[in-house]
Amino acid sequence: MDQNELKKAVAKAAADYVNQRLDDHTVIGVGTGSTANYFIDYLAEFGDDIRATVASSEETARRLKAHNIEVMDLNAAPEVTIYVDGADEANKYLHLIKGGGGALTREKIIAAVAKEFVCIADGSKLVDVLGTFPLPVEVIPMARSHVGRQIVKLGGDPVYREGFVTDNGNIIIDIHHMDIMEPRKLEEQLNQITGVVTNGLFAVRPADKLILGTKEGIRTLTAN
Ligand code: 5RP
Repeated sequence: MDQNELKKAVAKAAADYVNQRLDDHTVIGVGTGSTANYFIDYLAEFGDDIRATVASSEETARRLKAHNIEVMDLNAAPEVTIYVDGADEANKYLHLIKGGGGALTREKIIAAVAKEFVCIADGSKLVDVLGTFPLPVEVIPMARSHVGRQIVKLGGDPVYREGFVTDNGNIIIDIHHMDIMEPRKLEEQLNQITGVVTNGLFAVRPADKLILGTKEGIRTLTAN
C-alpha cells in the first residue's frame, strides 16, 4: 500500500468509528488536509444520518457542502461531539504537529471545544521526537520580524511561508531544525510571543485517540 492508500484506510476506520456514535445531537468537527478529505468522502456515504459538522477551514467547508453535508458556525453548535483530523507528526503521547496546510488556528479551536479528538494519519507520521516536520506558527502580519527574532532566541530557524495567507488573513512562519523535547512547554512559550495567534503544537490539548494506517493494518493508540 502506498501512503495515499494508508490515508484512505485510516479515514475509513475513522468514519466507521464516527458512524457508531451518530445520533440526532452529534456534531462532527472536520479537519483539513488530504487525510481529512478522504474522511469527508466516507462521511458523505452516511447521508442524512449526519446532522451537522463544523469545518476547520474554508476548503473543508467547501468540500463538505459539495457533498450536501450541513456545515454550521462553531458559535451556533451546542457541542462538538467528535473531531477528526490529520497531523504532520505525532508522538506516543498523542502530542501533534499540525498546520502543514495552514489551518492550525481553526483546528486548535475545534480541538479545544471537542469532547473527543481523533487524529488520523498514515504510520509514517509517528515519530519519537517532534520537530523534523517544520512547526507552523500563525502570526499577525505586522509582527513577522519580531516573532522571527523571538523564535531564534528559542533556538529555532524561522522561515516565512512565502505567498501564503491563512483563512484568518494572517501569515505563517515555519520553524525548522528544532528537536521538540518538551512540546507542552514550547507550545506555551510560542503562544506568549506578542503577535503569535497560535502555533501548530497540540500538546496542551493532545489527541484522545490516534488511528494509524500501517502496512500491517490499522493501529490505534489512546491517551492514558
Ligand atoms: C492542516 C493539517 C493537516 O492535518 C496536516 O497537514 C496533515 O495533512 P495530510 O493529511 O494532507 O497529510 O494540520 O493544517
